[in-house]
Amino acid sequence: MKDLQEILKTVETLFDGERFLYEPKGLYEPIDYTLRLGGKRLRPALLLASCQMMGGDTGLASSAAVGIETFHNFTLLHDDLMDRSPLRRGKPTVWSRWDANTAILSGDTMYALAWRMFLRQPHTHLREILNCFNETAIEVCEGQQYDMDFESRDNVSLDEYMMMIRKKTAVLLAGAMKIGAMYASAQAGDLCHIYDCGINMGLAFQIQDDLLDAYGNQQSFGKPIGQDIRDHKKTYMILRALELSDDAAALKTLYNRGQHNEETVSQILHLYEILGIRQQAEQVIDRLMQAAVNDLQQVSAATEAKKPILDLFATLASRKK
Ligand code: IPE
Ligand code: IPE
Ligand code: MG
Ligand code: MG
Ligand code: MG
Repeated sequence: MKDLQEILKTVETLFDGERFLYEPKGLYEPIDYTLRLGGKRLRPALLLASCQMMGGDTGLASSAAVGIETFHNFTLLHDDLMDRSPLRRGKPTVWSRWDANTAILSGDTMYALAWRMFLRQPHTHLREILNCFNETAIEVCEGQQYDMDFESRDNVSLDEYMMMIRKKTAVLLAGAMKIGAMYASAQAGDLCHIYDCGINMGLAFQIQDDLLDAYGNQQSFGKPIGQDIRDHKKTYMILRALELSDDAAALKTLYNRGQHNEETVSQILHLYEILGIRQQAEQVIDRLMQAAVNDLQQVSAATEAKKPILDLFATLASRKK
């Protein structure tokens, strides 16, 4: 049985073997650049850890692990363009280093490459696995559209926000775990608990991403701080602040109007401070992570086999990037 460090090492080795030094360079260089920049490699680690937890042969799921990370990286190319974000993993984003057309086409190619990777290794349940992958991809796109729609809406509720982050972020983390378990031919009941676990962890993960966007350190986070505020994103923090504020109308106008400079960003952060928004977001994250752990306890696998996933969750709770 591999521990978390060994699983992460396996994922890195898999990516060391994937280079994209093909022609035309204009298409493949940005792909190679992106996949070499690393990142946390959370989704392939979850896929392999979940496969191992259910007694599967992780070697049979290795192409799927690379595939799910390639899909995730495709979403980042498009997301950075949509969010006008100049920095990822401490380096210029593809659209800002090359251009928008490159982010679109190299991104599209990564989506197709992800399919090629999934198809590389045969498996009895490959049809169901690919169906799960595809339905997940559709939901991620739905989530991204809600995220964009919410930028220009000023009446988004916290329930709508939770629905949006479930789709744009949580379903892919949950899908990675479920697919890993499908490679181990896990039973339907276990697949449900594993998926629910991934959803709860994924919701917590996105709220924490929102928090880091406001309070993180650009050096370690690798993304620009305050980008969500500048983009008028509807995050947990702003929606909760609107619920608690004495002058919600004024806050709504401040948040949603025109271009934000550094002064409006710090004004909004100051308001979060006064209302204790950060602490409340941290409490919600803790509750969701606890729910994820409870879901994992329902899975019929040995406690020892669950350890890498629990260890991964523990690293997420204190993540800075
Ligand atoms: C970024 O995902 C997109 C979100 C869902 C917040 P990660 O935070 O997993 O990004 P990398 O792959 O580690 O860079
Ligand atoms: C992440 O949303 C969702 C996807 C990339 C699909 P964000 O827009 O918050 O992600 P970051 O902060 O740019 O990584
Ligand atoms: Mg973004
Ligand atoms: Mg986004
Ligand atoms: Mg973000």
